Amino acid sequence: MTELYYFDNSATTLKKPATVAEAVYHAIADGQLGNPARGSHTASLNALRLTETLRQKTAKLFGVPDAANVAFTANATASLNMVLKGLLKPADHIITTVTEHNAVLRPLYQLEDQGAALSFVGVDAFGTLRYPDFEQLLRPDTRAVVVNHASNVTGNAVDLERIGSFCREHGLIFIVDASQSAGVLAIDMMKQHIDVLCFTGHKGLYGPQGTGGICLGDRPLAFVPVFTGGSGFHSFDKHYPAQMPTLFEPGTQNVHGLAGVSAGLDYIQQKGLDTICRQLQALTFRFHDQIKDIPGITLYGSFAENVERAPVVSLNLAGWSSGDLSDALFMDYAIAVRPGAHCAPLIHQAFGTEKTGMVRFSFSSFNTVEEIDYAAKALRILAEEG
Ligand SMILES: Cc1ncc(COP(=O)(O)O)c(C=O)c1O
Repeated sequence: MTELYYFDNSATTLKKPATVAEAVYHAIADGQLGNPARGSHTASLNALRLTETLRQKTAKLFGVPDAANVAFTANATASLNMVLKGLLKPADHIITTVTEHNAVLRPLYQLEDQGAALSFVGVDAFGTLRYPDFEQLLRPDTRAVVVNHASNVTGNAVDLERIGSFCREHGLIFIVDASQSAGVLAIDMMKQHIDVLCFTGHKGLYGPQGTGGICLGDRPLAFVPVFTGGSGFHSFDKHYPAQMPTLFEPGTQNVHGLAGVSAGLDYIQQKGLDTICRQLQALTFRFHDQIKDIPGITLYGSFAENVERAPVVSLNLAGWSSGDLSDALFMDYAIAVRPGAHCAPLIHQAFGTEKTGMVRFSFSSFNTVEEIDYAAKALRILAEEG
């Protein structure tokens, strides 16, 4: 089989640490993991031990004040739906941004249909948030701010501490979508004043698909459980327990998948988040620097030095649709990228690319400089051929 040069890590990381695959294999093959919190026999306790250890590792990575404030879900989409629909009310005004993914926008639009009001912080020509908008959009009925930590289209990261301080100052709930930043950029819920953090397990955390989670900060929040069902305890209660982490974990957990996430977090811890961050920045800027002068290229996002960003480079080439360019990269060079709108319609509207889309390259710590150079060369050749 031809080698695939994979640059679609913002969709999902394809290459995982071998230890992740081994952990998932052993989780099933060893036959030791039962249903956690569903009994006092060894198999159930083994599974409980695994999930509780993973809560502690996750709490450490994101600066969560208490491991019990970490709940596991199927992905960031599930997390965001449970959080937004379980917390926000039809009478609320919510400030969000034009960089959001449909995993945030569509639940918010459903709330809007029920009466909630939405306001959007815009971006400048480089896709950087217009921070003064937050203050200007504030209303007496504003209840929450929902922000994408790093755009899956431009890679630009936002200043969470600045937005978190604004939220604290005005008594607003601060909800962060860390889908593109978990395992890639430093997150400290306490320092950044984050009340709710939603993450996915299969991207920068290198876990299997079908994993994700929700972390709560140190302020009490009243959630209505969106999904209810078996919780393993309080079986005679008509209502589902509203306590963490059960609140977001109805039914049987994906313990086999979580075994993989646990190995993914070990990989990040062993390699060091700082090292991963520096490696990804180096790959991103190496690619950017090699392609920025290609005739007819348009690059999106901010590539200013010393600005935090996720490892994403999105572009268009004059004369090419994003779909045709992506197809040519794949057919001629076995390069995998993502064309189109990336489930983030508002940022494409802001750049005027709703019709053309963009071609997105996104990197992981398994990409090499040789691969980056190969991709840059391929792009230059295609631009010259027209
Ligand atoms: C910014 C952002 N938010 C949310 C999601 C949804 O993640 P998942 O598909 O794992 O639910 C994605 C996925 O690409 C994303 O990029």
